[in-house]
Amino acid sequence: MNKYKNVYEINHPLCSHNLSIIRDKSTTAEVFRNAIKRITYLLFYKATEDLELEDCNITTPLENCTCKRLSSKKEIIIAPILRAGLIFSDIANEIMPYATVRHIGMYRDEETLTPVWYYNKIPIEFENPEDTTVLILDPMLATGNSALEAIKLFVNKKVPQKNIRFISLISAPEGLEKVTSTYKDVKIITASIDNCLNQNGYIRPGLGDAGDRIFNTVEN
Ligand code: URA
Repeated sequence: MNKYKNVYEINHPLCSHNLSIIRDKSTTAEVFRNAIKRITYLLFYKATEDLELEDCNITTPLENCTCKRLSSKKEIIIAPILRAGLIFSDIANEIMPYATVRHIGMYRDEETLTPVWYYNKIPIEFENPEDTTVLILDPMLATGNSALEAIKLFVNKKVPQKNIRFISLISAPEGLEKVTSTYKDVKIITASIDNCLNQNGYIRPGLGDAGDRIFNTVEN
């Protein structure tokens, strides 16, 4: 349990174990990516637990039976925030091959800590926003500014907040406060709620710059 409504922190031994690997600054990029991928399955297990199902008739080798499958009336959108969010989208695609992937390009202005847009693959409008579930992917929910921008994009296109999930590895209390007070019905699924931000907007203890560590661009 945590103090935020609609924020789910995964409390699982495999999650804790893999977090200890990715936090370690001596972990190589390859090991870092693989540990994140293992955590991703646990995050998605939680993030997708209430997807709507419909009945379907199946013939097994023995007999006919009624099964459940994902509702054909619902669209699932995977929205990775470039570039670090890409680490989640391969796994998301693997477990939900029928989902649509819509990339969002934003980088953080290091002086103002505000997001700067450079790419957006979101349609002008959604045909059935009420029937659309959006999974926004970004490993680090730090100041919350990018999260607010990404969520606003979908809310402005009439996707109900309750259909939007923000998935992160590590979240800072400052960012959670900002996002949950602005969008009360958006769900946030995270592997860890850390202590605080430092003066440069990095999460403490965190893991450093997620994009640099994933893509092996850390400057020493
Ligand atoms: N982005 C990162 O990659 N790391 C942080 O700690 C904060 C934002």
